[in-house]
Amino acid sequence: MKIIEIEGGKELSGTIRVSGAKNATVAIIPAAILADEEVTICNIPEITDTDALCDILHDLNVETTRASGSLVINPKNMVNTEIAEEHSKKLRASYYFMGALLGKYHKVSMFFPGGCSIGARPIDLHLKGFEALGAVVTKDKSKYTVEAKELKGANIYLDIASVGATINIMLAAVLAKGKTIIDNAAKEPEIVNVATFLNNMGAKITGAGTSRITIEGVESLHKCFHEIIPDRIEAGTYIIMGALCGKNLKIDNLIPEHLEALLSKLEEIGIDLEVGQDYVIVSKGTNLKPTNIKTAVYPGFPTDLQQPLTVLLTQCNGKSKLTETIWENRFMHINYLNMMGSDITVKNQTATIIGPTELKGHQVVATDLRAGAAMVAAGLAASGKTTVTNVEHILRGYEQIIEKLTSVGAKLKLKEIKDED
Ligand code: UD1
Repeated sequence: MKIIEIEGGKELSGTIRVSGAKNATVAIIPAAILADEEVTICNIPEITDTDALCDILHDLNVETTRASGSLVINPKNMVNTEIAEEHSKKLRASYYFMGALLGKYHKVSMFFPGGCSIGARPIDLHLKGFEALGAVVTKDKSKYTVEAKELKGANIYLDIASVGATINIMLAAVLAKGKTIIDNAAKEPEIVNVATFLNNMGAKITGAGTSRITIEGVESLHKCFHEIIPDRIEAGTYIIMGALCGKNLKIDNLIPEHLEALLSKLEEIGIDLEVGQDYVIVSKGTNLKPTNIKTAVYPGFPTDLQQPLTVLLTQCNGKSKLTETIWENRFMHINYLNMMGSDITVKNQTATIIGPTELKGHQVVATDLRAGAAMVAAGLAASGKTTVTNVEHILRGYEQIIEKLTSVGAKLKLKEIKDED
């Protein structure tokens, strides 16, 4: 098991450069197999989710060439074989191969996807979308098989504005016959980035970023060059760390509009921010006001920043409330924060945080990716030594987190220890 040891209480100053967006990358890599030619993607984050998706590409006999930050994917000799269970189980987003393989070959058989345990995470809306396009879905103990004689455009209304379902249906529909309309589509920036990528390959998608996406099916997709957008969640995590321990900490290479919900909340509680065209400069806040926050679909407050933000709310004067509306099991970090000295109670889907409380170093667990980021934020702000275990979760989504934080003055190291039996 990998652990991170943090010696807290250090001031963070200097510049952290934001990497390419994990949640766009994990959809764009599977989307690339829809092309008949080689595609080049740049600003790819070096995270273990990228490695896991490349393993799946190799299962499918797709050639890949990786250089620093770029990935060339050549699906010319691809075969539609079963993806190894150990590979699809490594990450949730392996399910984007369902839409892509269905779109290209009209048949896919895949083991259930893995990923963070933050809720039940059903994929019924993805499957209903495939069915609406003419596919038949069969499910056995551990696998889905989705098959269609022909995929035909359809009008699809999503009961929930799901990011995954919106993207997966786009992937299945780009090569279908005729027009597909997705209503109540999710509007996250990563969806726009995926649609732009597909359009760069010759797809005809309009409306991405709004709640109605229209896809005119095309015959084939060709080579292209594409750039992944900056990771708004990684950026937001470092901005929160800056609000906890920063002195003019610059978070560079971000798109401020993608972070509006976070930035306006930070200003509301009293954090001083300088927001530039592609950067934010942030310093540790003092005498912060408490606040109430509800997570929501984009452009609302992102659920993925709820856990890191909890740490900052422990430093506000008075009672803050944080309600999680997207995932039913996203408060596993709270127990560990309380071990570090916070005063937080959770009832139903709302955490009540009484502050300010002094945080003290402790041994804590990264129970999932963003909970892990919250633990690192807490460890940086705490006095003494914090050990975060199970940090494989963190490495799935934060490129070079140790190096980036060390370069701005944090004291932390990654270690490998033997798992206990
Ligand atoms: C994506 C992000 C994740 C983020 C989430 C919400 C990726 C790889 N992950 O996850 O970081 O937390 O968006 O912003 O992009 N739902 C159903 N049925 C479905 C699909 C979803 O009921 O078929 C529900 C889910 O249980 C959840 C809600 O819809 O309550 C939102 O899920 P969704 O937007 O699909 O999240 P993901 O795409 O899995």
